[in-house]
Amino acid sequence: MSVISAKNIVKSFGKLEVIKDVSMELEEGEVVAIIGPSGSGKSTFLRSLINLETIDNGTITIDGQTVVENGLYKKPEENRQAYQKLGMVFQNFNLFPHKSVLENIILSPILVNGKTRENAVKDAEDLLEQVGLSDKINSYPYQLSGGQQQRVAIARALAMNPKVMLFDEPTSALDPELTGEILKVIRDLAAKDMTMIIVTHEIEFAKNVADRIIFMADGYIVEEGTASVVVDNPQNERTQNFLKGFKR
Ligand SMILES: Nc1ncnc2c1ncn2[C@@H]1O[C@H](COP(=O)(O)OP(=O)(O)OP(=O)(O)O)[C@@H](O)[C@H]1O
Ligand SMILES: [Mg+2]
Repeated sequence: MSVISAKNIVKSFGKLEVIKDVSMELEEGEVVAIIGPSGSGKSTFLRSLINLETIDNGTITIDGQTVVENGLYKKPEENRQAYQKLGMVFQNFNLFPHKSVLENIILSPILVNGKTRENAVKDAEDLLEQVGLSDKINSYPYQLSGGQQQRVAIARALAMNPKVMLFDEPTSALDPELTGEILKVIRDLAAKDMTMIIVTHEIEFAKNVADRIIFMADGYIVEEGTASVVVDNPQNERTQNFLKGFKR
């Protein structure tokens, strides 16, 4: 059974049709990278999966629960549990600026999941160790580098114990020398069989970490397959042209 199944997703902003007909299945433990030109609908697609955007048509099933069927959404309270199985990390970290690293991480587990503060703190300490930031537990976001902030954002998403992690260009706001630390954290998650969808412009990274690569353009999936096909031997002319921009 797929953890995420998206069928025939369609989404417009006003008159602009951004996702024209996208279908994908994500299996448990699978890592999928989505690549493609700016404006092709990658972020909109990810945001639609986690209900930050409302789709106009299509069917989305998360871990067996159909949250929207042919464009018709179930009631929010029926879908809440399904959406909680997804964690998301954004390009710009989106930490709460006036809360410490610890408070950023424990807030939702306590408020949403009803964890005790004691357990939430213990889990936060473990997660900070996992992302190499134990020494920053009492720091505030403005005291951290971009790479550190992004690692806190990853820890915060993991603290909700998601079944699937969605990453939307997690390194594109970072200086190149900070990119590696984020990619390492994601690689560690892949090694632990975390199920993930990663939108990225880091083609080499996508090639390394992803079981499958999807090339999106113009609101469609143009090509998908293993890295050795999509990146090294693309069949579609649009994929070939897109990838030329990354080769030296
Ligand atoms: N909230 C919005 N209102 C109106 N138009 C939007 C909105 N969000 C996205 N769009 C438009 O939808 C299209 C797809 O945007 P999206 O952010 O999904 O692309 P993307 O593939 O993630 O691009 P990038 O690689 O630059 O992040 C773009 O033309 C964008 O301007
Ligand atoms: Mg985007």
